[in-house]
Amino acid sequence: MTTMSIPVALSTDLLTGTEWNAARVQELLQLSADVKARPDHYASALAGRFLALILEKPSLRTRVTFEVGMRGLGGTAIFLDHTVSRLGERESIPDVARNLSRWVQAIVARVFAQRELDQLAEFASVPVINALSDRFHPCQAYADFFTLRERYGTLRGLKLAYVGDGNNVCHSLMAVAARVGAEMRIATPAGYEPDASVVAEARQAGRETRATLEMFASPEEAVAGVRAVYTDVWASMGQEDEAATRAKIFASYQVNDALMKRAAPDALFMHCLPAHRGAEVTDSVMDSPRSIVFDQAENRLHVQKAILLMLLS
Ligand code: CP
Ligand code: NVA
Repeated sequence: MTTMSIPVALSTDLLTGTEWNAARVQELLQLSADVKARPDHYASALAGRFLALILEKPSLRTRVTFEVGMRGLGGTAIFLDHTVSRLGERESIPDVARNLSRWVQAIVARVFAQRELDQLAEFASVPVINALSDRFHPCQAYADFFTLRERYGTLRGLKLAYVGDGNNVCHSLMAVAARVGAEMRIATPAGYEPDASVVAEARQAGRETRATLEMFASPEEAVAGVRAVYTDVWASMGQEDEAATRAKIFASYQVNDALMKRAAPDALFMHCLPAHRGAEVTDSVMDSPRSIVFDQAENRLHVQKAILLMLLS
């Protein structure tokens, strides 16, 4: 077992990234660092525990990191493939939640609609973790700020820009940025801004940490002098029908060498992946020494192990 004490859970679910306050996020980042540095100390921390991994959409990173992570903690993940049938079709979501709660100690779910997750959480008696919904991707955002912390040491006052669609990834980044005291700048085309209620929540939460959150229409203005530039796909899973329209609307939001030149000289490039090379990001930026996209992907593993420890220990 570990020699590091694992904090007591405040919220039993992780559905958005707004549940945990600034102190709790710092605990998560600390524990993630320890899990990464000393994986053997946690090798049997969740021995005999089971995790149900429900995915309604394709995944590379999320599936592998939760499966490898659970195994690395001594537990077992059970993959429930809902990529071909919707959750709730064969059996209602409340009944799925009530069944799973009798057999497993946590449910991780990637769903189309946030309300499906909320329903799982309402009827499950075990923690429910959002593995991406239409609204949020908290595990990604925690891994991303952990990656920035590894690079820069401190997150307070760190300037980063998110360029592109005000989507699920953007929402959880805003929520976590507010809790770590980062200065976040967002550039989206008109009509693709992040949800106003998520912006308002982040601004409110950021008062404690002196985080700032600014909206821009111009990507050039948003990235001016920042230490990290983040982007995501222009059409998320479930928005395939809009891909061609969005490609035109987002064309001037591409992260390319010219845009990166406007950021700080040492600015990092970030992407949750999968990336559409040649669309939201060029090969030259993705493959440059400033790109930390595979560090982000690796850190999903360590941070999610820490999340599981915090919710299940
Ligand atoms: N970033 C991320 O969640 O990747 P997957 O869709 O491959 O899980
Ligand atoms: N915004 C993307 C993120 C994928 C990890 C999507 O929802 O498809």
